[in-house]
Amino acid sequence: MKIKKICCIGAGYVGGPTMSVIADKNPGIQVTVVDINEARIKAWNSENLDELPVYEPGLSEVVARARGRNLFFSTEIEKNIDEAEMIFISVNTPTKTYGKGKNMAADLKYVELCARQIANVATSDKIVVEKSTLPVRTAQAIKTILDQTGNGVKFQILSNPEFLAEGTAIQDLEQADRVLIGGEQSAEGKEAIQALVDIYAAWLPQENILTTNVWSSELSKLTANAFLAQRVSSINAISELCEATGADVSEVAKAIGMDSRIGPKFLKASVGFGGSCFQKDILNLVYIAKSLGLDNVADYWEQVIIMNDHQKKRFAENIVSTLFNTVSGKKIAFLGWAFKKDTNDTRESAAIYVADLLLEEQAEIQVYDPKVKPHQIYTDLNALNTRTEEENKAQLQVVNNPYEACKDAHAIAVLTEWDEFTTYDWKRIYDTMKKPAFVFDGRKILKEEELKAIGFEYYAIGKA
Ligand code: UDX
Ligand code: UDX
Repeated sequence: MKIKKICCIGAGYVGGPTMSVIADKNPGIQVTVVDINEARIKAWNSENLDELPVYEPGLSEVVARARGRNLFFSTEIEKNIDEAEMIFISVNTPTKTYGKGKNMAADLKYVELCARQIANVATSDKIVVEKSTLPVRTAQAIKTILDQTGNGVKFQILSNPEFLAEGTAIQDLEQADRVLIGGEQSAEGKEAIQALVDIYAAWLPQENILTTNVWSSELSKLTANAFLAQRVSSINAISELCEATGADVSEVAKAIGMDSRIGPKFLKASVGFGGSCFQKDILNLVYIAKSLGLDNVADYWEQVIIMNDHQKKRFAENIVSTLFNTVSGKKIAFLGWAFKKDTNDTRESAAIYVADLLLEEQAEIQVYDPKVKPHQIYTDLNALNTRTEEENKAQLQVVNNPYEACKDAHAIAVLTEWDEFTTYDWKRIYDTMKKPAFVFDGRKILKEEELKAIGFEYYAIGKA
């Protein structure tokens, strides 16, 4: 089956970049990304490519090539669903905040809404692709809903999890380690799988395109994220041990990473992992294991989250204790708010939780992040409901210049590993700060010797 039209529901961090690359590499296929959020679609259609709703290195170039040619962003959801032979579901699947499975299970209401919408409008056979990360066996639920239409339309459900990481999304898509496609092991299922394989084969070698059954594909996505997050929590656990013993976590990471069985990636100690996926996916895994009565499996994976929460808390507590056990009325500069560099995404960023703890200690915070907008920072803090919006506004300021953020500060906390932080005039920063001037490097990116020579009291994660 040759696909001519694709519709993707959800123009977010996953749907937007993924469809842009698919369109770029398949000029013969018309790709339309639809979303209920009109402002988001307007931003995707913006003439000024700096205004795209997602910031990713290389994305604006891809959009510039394909948009208007065979890549479209639209709010006309039903029309585009009906016209497409293949529909990607790429809506968000947040952790449930209510009812059974609260704070653990994935909330599938948006996915179900998509399935119902497809069922309502489809007048021809469709391949429906799960792009969103979903609990194992969600494909079954989607199929059951779709098969109830009663109008004779046939559906095939594929699982095609996304492995792109934010900040490197375009590179991860263009040079994917692997693409995973799960489908029904029947003749029709295999035909649907092949249709999607053909789309990726436009730019990826066949041997990098893995096909499996649906459940393996769904579970592989959760497992990949759980393993990655587990490595970060493991090295973060060792970072605390390093601080207590005089070992240096970078040296330990390098030493173990050279063992080819361990490998060097995902061994950077940090103030804690963030992002929309790691915590959500592990909680999801824990919930599934618990639901199946596999308590030991659930407890094992839950430790990854417990360790991550501990790391964020301990970073904030270390700032308070080092600043002579009080930060009340003291100004603390935050360099970075995004959950990692090269993205404007702040979901689950460690900065939010560190700020919240310091604000509870009555600190005054001045934030500078190269890509995150002030409105987002207040939205993140207000969502915690720890204090009123007015109190957050009074205690935390957002500035658009790092030197201004650090002026008169008692301490600087580095929360995101933005490259530009290493290029600042640190002597100039030092001269404008209160003394002693402290730096707490939650990403271990600044040059320790240089800062100490200037006069800073420098503390980095994982070093005594
Ligand atoms: C990603 C992944 O797709 C998902 O697997 C993971 O669970 C969460 O992160 P992401 O693209 O980052 O999703 O989410 P987001 O940026 O929130 O985008 C989702 C989009 O879907 C939003 O723009 C939202 O408006 C849209 N949406 C949601 C719809 O168009 N229809 C709906 O019914 C619900
Ligand atoms: C992750 C997965 O990597 C990706 O495959 C999946 O599709 C979505 O989830 P993402 O969350 O975008 O991607 O970024 P990632 O690079 O994995 O970083 C997640 C968090 O871990 C960030 O806060 C990052 O700073 C932190 N991290 C990562 C570390 O603290 N140390 C490391 O060594 C690596």
